Amino acid sequence: ELFTGYDEGLVRSEPGGFVATPTYARNAEKIFRMQVRSDDVWLLTFPKCGTTWTCELLWLLQNNCDFEAASKAGLTLRTPFLEMPYLTSRMYGIKDMLMTVDKVEQLPSPRVIRPHLPFYLLPPQLLDTAKVVYVARNPKDVIVSYYFHHKLIKLHGYTGTLEEFAQFFMDDEVYNAPFFPHILEAWSKRHHPNMHFMFYEDMKRDLRGEIEKVAAFLGKSLSEEQLVALTEHLKFENFQKNESVNNESGKKTGAFNQEGRFIRKGKTGDWKNHFSPELNVRIDEWIEKNLTGTDLTFVTEL
Ligand code: A3P
Repeated sequence: ELFTGYDEGLVRSEPGGFVATPTYARNAEKIFRMQVRSDDVWLLTFPKCGTTWTCELLWLLQNNCDFEAASKAGLTLRTPFLEMPYLTSRMYGIKDMLMTVDKVEQLPSPRVIRPHLPFYLLPPQLLDTAKVVYVARNPKDVIVSYYFHHKLIKLHGYTGTLEEFAQFFMDDEVYNAPFFPHILEAWSKRHHPNMHFMFYEDMKRDLRGEIEKVAAFLGKSLSEEQLVALTEHLKFENFQKNESVNNESGKKTGAFNQEGRFIRKGKTGDWKNHFSPELNVRIDEWIEKNLTGTDLTFVTEL
């Protein structure tokens, strides 16, 4: 019993074996049948791949780089995390921040919507209707990041080691698993004109360049001043301090433990500080097995 936080257990939804809560399963249909708008932007990610970072960028691009408005309301209020209200009945004081599908459907345009769900659980018309951004990150850093996330967030109540967590991850026993089908389904759609597929590692390497690509994809032209301001705003050091995105409020509401931070380290290759050589071999084998026959590759160090 290494996960103590769930009061409802976890279920696998078919097809694809997606791991979620029973509350989500009961509401999955509502999400699947949602109205998609042509001026929506949807951000799809597996957890810990740079959701918060990219989401703030998308919101700012959709809202004329209004940094002041961004600072006044938390990111979760500006960009609904679609399935969050259905994750658990234990909301630890964050219920007011969450938007059910009914509320999301009443939001004014333009909406930025972010689910961690795989494509096949989202409205089938999504990609033909709205713009979709998918952010991927190398699985080694995702495992480390997700491990710290599971220790930080009380809902998960994880008490085991990183080594044990990595095995849960590879066995598809963590929330939102399985990792590879999630990414590969999106990867197979990357040439769709409404799709922008990007990597966390590329944002680390060239934040300004990636901002420019996303802006072009959304049809936004940025002034040099806006581009510089966005790049500064999204730099790790500034982002970690930004109360509108850093989720530090989770410590006050009781959703988070006091130790650890949601915007944690922001590095590519942090796995090297955490994996034993033996664990690294096992993870390499797991990655290789899952990427065989695909043309997807990951960058694990910069
Ligand atoms: P680490 O735990 O490796 O630090 P998500 O938003 O999908 O949950 O992803 C969280 C991960 O993105 C965390 O990774 C977090 O630190 C990182 N991150 C968030 N903002 C970032 C930024 N501005 N620059 C680099 N990494 C960032």
